Amino acid sequence: MSRSVAAPRVVNIQDLRLLAKRRLPRVVFDYIDGGADAEITLRENSRAYDDIAFRPLSAVETPSPDLRTTVLGTPLSMPMILAPVGSSRMFYPHGEEVAARAAGQAGTLYTLSTLSGCKLEDVRRATTGPAWYQVYLCGGRDVACTAIERAKSVGYSALVVTIDTAVAGLRERDVRNGTKELLTRRPWPMLPYVWQFIARPAWLTGFLGDGGLMSFPNVMLSDGPMLYADVGAALEQSTVTWRDLRWIKDLWKGPIVVKGVHIGDDARRAIDAGADAVVVSNHGGRQLDGVRGTVQVLPEVVAAVRGQIEVLVDGGIRRGSDIAKALCLGARAVLIGRAYAYGLGAAGGPGVARAIEILRTDLIRTLKLLGCPSTAALDQSYVDVPRHWLVDQRRSEAKVLFAG
Ligand SMILES: Cc1cc2nc3c(=O)[nH]c(=O)nc-3n(C[C@H](O)[C@H](O)[C@H](O)COP(=O)(O)O)c2cc1C
Repeated sequence: MSRSVAAPRVVNIQDLRLLAKRRLPRVVFDYIDGGADAEITLRENSRAYDDIAFRPLSAVETPSPDLRTTVLGTPLSMPMILAPVGSSRMFYPHGEEVAARAAGQAGTLYTLSTLSGCKLEDVRRATTGPAWYQVYLCGGRDVACTAIERAKSVGYSALVVTIDTAVAGLRERDVRNGTKELLTRRPWPMLPYVWQFIARPAWLTGFLGDGGLMSFPNVMLSDGPMLYADVGAALEQSTVTWRDLRWIKDLWKGPIVVKGVHIGDDARRAIDAGADAVVVSNHGGRQLDGVRGTVQVLPEVVAAVRGQIEVLVDGGIRRGSDIAKALCLGARAVLIGRAYAYGLGAAGGPGVARAIEILRTDLIRTLKLLGCPSTAALDQSYVDVPRHWLVDQRRSEAKVLFAG
């Protein structure tokens, strides 16, 4: 473990966040850290975990809790997956490859975003672990089809189809930091914002050494890889619908994970469209602001799914105890986004490895203190949750019964 991210300097994920803030230019740090509009959902994702209280069994010996699980049949060393995080190459040279390698070394799974700065083949080669590929339809079906075929041929084991991005959310911090102006690559519009890079010479050296402003090599348009400045428009023209999902399913012929489900009804629609798993996700509070924290809606989705497919959740996870709470409420596993992105921005591979280690040791300690022998044994009996979350669950069940 690199000393720069070891204890006592780095004890929790917040410490990695502060290190990332120190190493990255403001525009890059805020791209990771920020959310949409008033950032209500961003905050709510983490805060909602505070509303769940543990009910531990005391005086129980749990010498070595078992964290192992499978997700869609793939064995994992713990119930935690690295979520797709676009543009990771901006956080650290070859960022997606570096993060995927750290995930594999930790015995877990990496999800590569369509909006990656590294080629999907290079990322697959970088990890000894399993990997999923996340799909946007930027550039249209033909462009996505090429990427999906490439992903299949190099061994990505599932496709993650993100359905909450009909348009990119308004990230106000990005507007203030001059993201749009910086992407013009024209000196005059850029000038008021370049101080952010000059203030972070170590990052700048790495960034320029890695080729400077990245494009998206997995979105191959007729005139070359999609440029950064074109992402917003491309997303807006390529909303993924349930019809697209069936098309993707036919093309891929392997497991499909639908990411971005907020309500029980959409989980049912995902099942009807052939999903093998859903991720309860609001994109880490980066899309529609004002939706509830994901762990609050998890019981509703779990009830609606009725055990037919696996339910995963992401958003706001910063401690191992958060993972335990999500599992108690029926998640098969969680995905983490910012928790590892901060590590990547702070220190590259060792930073990602440290983020995973923090969450793993937290989770082991939580299980011991709960008197629970394994993550598989976690259930609702270990937590008290606000009543109205479960009322929503009953409402969803009633609806499902009525519909069925
Ligand atoms: C910087 C950043 C970029 C992201 N890019 C993508 C993406 O390209 N595709 C996607 O499906 N989700 C993307 N997400 C959302 C994550 O996959 C995940 O849903 C979210 O980060 C979970 O919340 P958390 O960051 O609080 O853990 C991104 C999140 C962040 C922070």
